[in-house]
Amino acid sequence: MPRKIPWIIKYRPKKIADVVNQDSAKKQFIQWLESWLKGKPLKKAALLYGPAGCGKTSLVEAAANEYKLEVVEMNASDFRRKQDIERIAKVAATMRSLFARGKIILLDEVDGISGMADRGAIDAILHLLEVTKYPIVMTANDPWDQKLKPLRDASLMIAFKRLSERDVILVLKRICQAERLECEDNALREIARRSEGDLRSAINDLQAIAEGYGKVTITLVRELSAYRYREYAPFEALQKLFNAKYIWQAKAAVTQTNIDYETMMIWVNEHIPTYYDDPEELARAFDALSRADVYMGRIRKSGSWDLLSYVFDMMGPGVAFARRIYKYKWKIFRSPKRLQLLAQTKRSREVREGIARALAPRLLTSKATVKRDVIPFLKIIFTNNPKYAAKIALGYELTEEMIKWLAGPKASQVLAYYKKYKK
Ligand SMILES: Nc1ncnc2c1ncn2[C@@H]1O[C@H](COP(=O)(O)OP(=O)(O)OP(=O)(O)O)[C@@H](O)[C@H]1O
Ligand SMILES: [Mg+2]
Repeated sequence: MPRKIPWIIKYRPKKIADVVNQDSAKKQFIQWLESWLKGKPLKKAALLYGPAGCGKTSLVEAAANEYKLEVVEMNASDFRRKQDIERIAKVAATMRSLFARGKIILLDEVDGISGMADRGAIDAILHLLEVTKYPIVMTANDPWDQKLKPLRDASLMIAFKRLSERDVILVLKRICQAERLECEDNALREIARRSEGDLRSAINDLQAIAEGYGKVTITLVRELSAYRYREYAPFEALQKLFNAKYIWQAKAAVTQTNIDYETMMIWVNEHIPTYYDDPEELARAFDALSRADVYMGRIRKSGSWDLLSYVFDMMGPGVAFARRIYKYKWKIFRSPKRLQLLAQTKRSREVREGIARALAPRLLTSKATVKRDVIPFLKIIFTNNPKYAAKIALGYELTEEMIKWLAGPKASQVLAYYKKYKK
């Protein structure tokens, strides 16, 4: 059974020199790290910030590798749990023995804390900075939230640049060569363009296409991007959609959400009756949505993805402007459905946690990394390539619930192959 490692892990920079671009960040970081190793830290912590997938975590891991340090990693989503913070604090405060390896403490994605509205996590980190005997690295995409000010003040701030299309293409090409993969140049350019400098998503796209089809062509790139998995955020999207004042707002609500369009269609379908009570409005909204569904069916059959724009037109403006007069509505978010959803997302978070726990030891990486880097990639595979997904599920011994969670609308297909292969 193949147990393929996600390429973002396989091709993670092993040496500092492998981190492309980011020269000034590298220089500052090394200087700071060496000041620690000499026993005279410039500052106790460094805060690496910049856009997603540009090399922040990679640089920390590459440097740890070169300097033979162990990385003790913690994701911001764990900061709320007191015992986790205490565990890290204990590790950090204990002076290393003569023979043990030195450490870097990595607190990943600290901007995740600001949303949690609790001051406790910030205090816990500040306490950590006081007691630590090891360098502490924090990362963030956006460190400028007011709540993070105490952390900014206590840290050396190191900025990372968005990677250029050229940088992204360079890395993709290297991977293609290493994998002996046939890649069209313009396909790589298209992946790079769509990634907007996020190398993680670019590499994941490359792998998803390569493993699904054995080659990477511009046509496949275009198809995949329609499917790209995005985080779940239905409320904002629905609110924007049903309260859109202009056509462009309604369209943006369905195209720029964090939800893939098939899930979005289910959500819109479910919520039309809660937003509209006038029978005429209801009929018009459902009519628009059913036309979106018809286009969707044609796309599935014919593979003409250029029709997708009509799907969005119908599902977005078509549904939003079914109403007769504009009235801002948001009472929906207090409905019992919402409670049900919260309960579901709680279970969903638990499943995600379970997958991370199952995969981390096998991929020789941390749970935080699995959640951030591997799971989104698996979602792409599971919603695109049921056969391959089933093999992965077997190889990693995933449970049925995990498979369903990863595969979403494709769950039954993946499970069918899974059962077949199991025999
Ligand atoms: N500058 C870079 N040089 C080489 N590879 C990179 C670079 N940036 C990102 N990568 C690749 O992309 C993947 C994700 O990068 P990384 O985890 O470092 O992103 P990040 O900046 O920490 O992003 P986030 O803010 O989302 O955590 C890595 O596994 C690596 O393979
Ligand atoms: Mg990171």
